Amino acid sequence: MSIVITGTPGVGKHTITNKIAKKLELEIIDINKIAKESGLFEENQNIKDVDTEKLGKIIKKENLENTIIVGHLAPYVLKKNQIKKIIVLRRNPYDLITSYKQRQYTDKKSKENAGSEILGVIAHDVIKQFSEKAFQIDNSEKSINETVKEVLDTILGNHKDVEIDWLNMVTENDDLKKFFVD
Ligand SMILES: Nc1ncnc2c1ncn2[C@@H]1O[C@H](COP(=O)(O)OP(=O)(O)OP(=O)(O)O)[C@@H](O)[C@H]1O
Ligand SMILES: [Mg+2]
Repeated sequence: MSIVITGTPGVGKHTITNKIAKKLELEIIDINKIAKESGLFEENQNIKDVDTEKLGKIIKKENLENTIIVGHLAPYVLKKNQIKKIIVLRRNPYDLITSYKQRQYTDKKSKENAGSEILGVIAHDVIKQFSEKAFQIDNSEKSINETVKEVLDTILGNHKDVEIDWLNMVTENDDLKKFFVD
């Protein structure tokens, strides 16, 4: 049984996971790393480019005791009975675009990923599959350490519920075109 950190690319999963793993002395299982080492990644790191069924089988063989699993593919390769809690990190799509520019993502890839965060695709899939084991934490406009504290609190059973609705925010800013039109 494992703790899982997931979310759209660039929300801060690895940054937060590294700190949590140190604090709680957990071993990190990195889904992307396993996929790469197993030769399951195609050119792009998109969900459709990975055989999630094969990847799920490989992860099933791992010893998940005292581990923290990290990766945006988590909801597609894990089953509810394998995990204790799954935390979806969320991040303001405007901040994500800034991060993607630093990573030199193409405009298309930036919009695809930010658009996915606006629609809450991973959050939706996680809540649907893991229900009471699923928690959302906003990693925008706060320091890394503040988010680490919130994640620790959630792991220990003191989750602070927040409503996250980027779609409403972007619509009110009249910015839908910025994210959803080429
Ligand atoms: N709370 C924060 N405040 C400021 N910067 C942050 C915060 N959290 C993360 N970052 C920065 O955002 C960037 C993306 O973080 P990170 O690489 O951890 O994301 P990720 O979710 O693991 O991405 P990927 O899915 O591509 O692996 C990094 O440069 C990181 O330093
Ligand atoms: Mg990462």
